[in-house]
Amino acid sequence: MRAVLLPLLLLSGAALAEQAPPGASTCLGCHSATRAAPAIPTLRGREAADIAAAMREFREGRRPATLMDRLAKGFSEEESQAIAAWVVR
Ligand code: HEC
Repeated sequence: MRAVLLPLLLLSGAALAEQAPPGASTCLGCHSATRAAPAIPTLRGREAADIAAAMREFREGRRPATLMDRLAKGFSEEESQAIAAWVVR
């Protein structure tokens, strides 16, 4: 994944892959990579495009949610994509 992402990030002139985009680190509080909260799926290792698509659906109210709908509304499409690319690493 990193091999695919890095050229994309460089092409888009985005910040370094290691640098969390605004809001991204909060995601991991609930979506823990170590599965501290097993009821909430981990995002690591998933496809960034799938995460961005889920965020879009939450934002537009097309995906059932208890809280992600409200949370996703706080991010634009571009911000969601940047966050998605970061949280899957
Ligand atoms: C307060 C806890 C919490 C935070 C913070 C949080 N999530 Fe979630 N997330 C959930 C819960 C709970 C669900 C299940 C859907 C629901 O009930 O809203 C979920 C579902 C998802 C899903 C769908 C997963 C799947 O496999 O169906 C994605 C993608 C997702 N979150 C991405 C994110 C991103 C990106 C962020 C950071 C911007 C984030 N979440 C922040 C709790 C959280």
